[in-house]
Amino acid sequence: MRKLIIATRNRHKTRELAAMLGPEWMIEDLSGYTELPEPEENGRTFEENAVIKALAASHALKGLVLADDSGLEVDLLEGAPGIRSARYAAEKATDKENRDRLLGELSRLNHAAGQPITARFRCAMALAEQGKVLATFCGRVEGRIVLAEAGTGGFGYDPLFIPDGYSQTFAELDAGTKNCLSHRARAMEPAMAWLAARGAAETATGSGMERAVRRAASEPTRPRPRWIRS
Ligand code: IMP
Repeated sequence: MRKLIIATRNRHKTRELAAMLGPEWMIEDLSGYTELPEPEENGRTFEENAVIKALAASHALKGLVLADDSGLEVDLLEGAPGIRSARYAAEKATDKENRDRLLGELSRLNHAAGQPITARFRCAMALAEQGKVLATFCGRVEGRIVLAEAGTGGFGYDPLFIPDGYSQTFAELDAGTKNCLSHRARAMEPAMAWLAARGAAETATGSGMERAVRRAASEPTRPRPRWIRS
């Protein structure tokens, strides 16, 4: 079994990522490492913040680390809350406070009734080990915002977001459906391919190792991870 440290204390993120990775991975997040300080997320992009989180954890802990930085962009709000999604209402805001601020901001705008409030979730992931970044990956899911919360599943802005092609919010859809089409799933797909290539390289020995890395990295098509629907 391979081990992966998820650089988060958000149990919802850990649960979603563990479901995508499957039982062959032993997952550990930072909830048991209360002594580790939270790094300052002062990047200008999701990717920069994912790298900050991955490096901070991998300097402190041995092993392969995966960090996820994600958030919601609403076009009418010029991309807000964006990288400030977790702290939109205040530094230590709850999910509910952040959703209320979003609805408050939208209610102040002169939005034409019936026009969809287009938005997207973005996710950047960074893999790191021994204080070095190994790779980064990105994913996004397009959709629209509803002005009344619906559903009790998921977390964060899920009760306000309907992904394109659906008529229910992420909080109404079952977890398996969200995990097939979310921003996180889409960033995880290339991340899983990278991890599979790394695994193939690790099982090879001597000169065969180099060949395995090259072969895995250059394969044009790999089987889609099992949680992605065709
Ligand atoms: P982070 O932990 O700094 O990456 O902040 C992520 C924030 O973005 C969360 O606190 C949520 O507010 C929001 N977010 C990210 N992913 C999701 C999701 O899958 N559903 C709902 N909200 C999300």
